Amino acid sequence: MTRKEEFLQQHPTAYFLAADDLAALASYLHQRGWLASDECLQRAEKAGEGNMNYTLRIQTSARSFILKQARPWVEKYPSIAAPWERALVEGRFYEAVQNQPTIAALMPKLIGVDADAHILALEDLGAARDFTTLYHGDVLIEAQLAELVRWLVALHQTVLDHQAAFANRAMRALNHQHIFELPLQANNGLDLDAITPGLMDEARALQADDAYVERVRELGAMYLQDGAALLHGDYFPGSWLQTAAGVRVIDPEFCFFGPPEFDVGVLLAHLHLAQQPTELIAQVLHEYHASLDEALTWKFAGVEIMRRLLGVAQLPLECDLPEKARLLALSREWILA
Ligand SMILES: Nc1ncnc2c1ncn2[C@@H]1O[C@H](COP(=O)(O)OP(=O)(O)OP(=O)(O)O)[C@@H](O)[C@H]1O
Ligand SMILES: [Mg+2]
Repeated sequence: MTRKEEFLQQHPTAYFLAADDLAALASYLHQRGWLASDECLQRAEKAGEGNMNYTLRIQTSARSFILKQARPWVEKYPSIAAPWERALVEGRFYEAVQNQPTIAALMPKLIGVDADAHILALEDLGAARDFTTLYHGDVLIEAQLAELVRWLVALHQTVLDHQAAFANRAMRALNHQHIFELPLQANNGLDLDAITPGLMDEARALQADDAYVERVRELGAMYLQDGAALLHGDYFPGSWLQTAAGVRVIDPEFCFFGPPEFDVGVLLAHLHLAQQPTELIAQVLHEYHASLDEALTWKFAGVEIMRRLLGVAQLPLECDLPEKARLLALSREWILA
């Protein structure tokens, strides 16, 4: 049985989003009310690069919009199960920030949620590139970073009275495993030398460092606890788009109420991984005008650097072994500080 057949058998009422059957898609959109009676579906095509979900740009006779379906697996690796409720949590995030102007202004508008099929309909921000170009030599401009930090401060200060709806436990458990556990497990099956010859020895050295491993374990426990602030949860260049209108933020599927230091740490880690200028990196803590435990922030940054270099979720980095060793030394320094 294919994954699609399995899906339809287990969820007979849910629509399975597919670009190759436009008639079925058009009838689905009409039935949802996402296509006006005088509007025609013209095209459906892959919206951009993504791993977890199935995301299409829908072109109609009047406009375009985005459909994003979460399936109970990782779209790029269908044999790997993934928490199906992630789309619903992501939808709740968009709903919750819709009346928060600073946050909503930098995000696509939510058009609707199909809670049965786990599909979000979102405003199309245009065929924009994300910021993973930073790993290839692009430099973030100060004004863009300032916007990204302002957005984060506004998000972290958001007060919501239904925090339980954002527990996102299954996604957190998945992330916890990939961020805090697997990269530091000896014999985890990852062939790091195939990525960068000599990287395996760097991994072994950290895996054998009991103090480091213990601190990472404690940070992982903190990640699993509920915290004070609404976090994006995946605040890295792949979640930022460079549109004609400016910087935009997407993909809050890993959101939860946790320590704001986690989001800020992830942001800092990626500025280091992308070898951004020192003064630019310093701008983050300078402009984050809200209370923050800076030491904890750097510890989370250290974990993110470590997991991106030694874990499964590799980045398109152009770093040689000495540079990776330098970054891992920074991770160790911050985490053991
Ligand atoms: N609202 C939008 N407007 C324009 N493009 C979008 C929009 N939403 C998504 N995209 C495009 O689709 C790509 C994938 O979207 P998204 O990151 O939300 O999917 P994902 O499956 O969660 O990805 P990942 O596995 O990397 O987390 C984006 O990088 C972007 O190119
Ligand atoms: Mg995603």
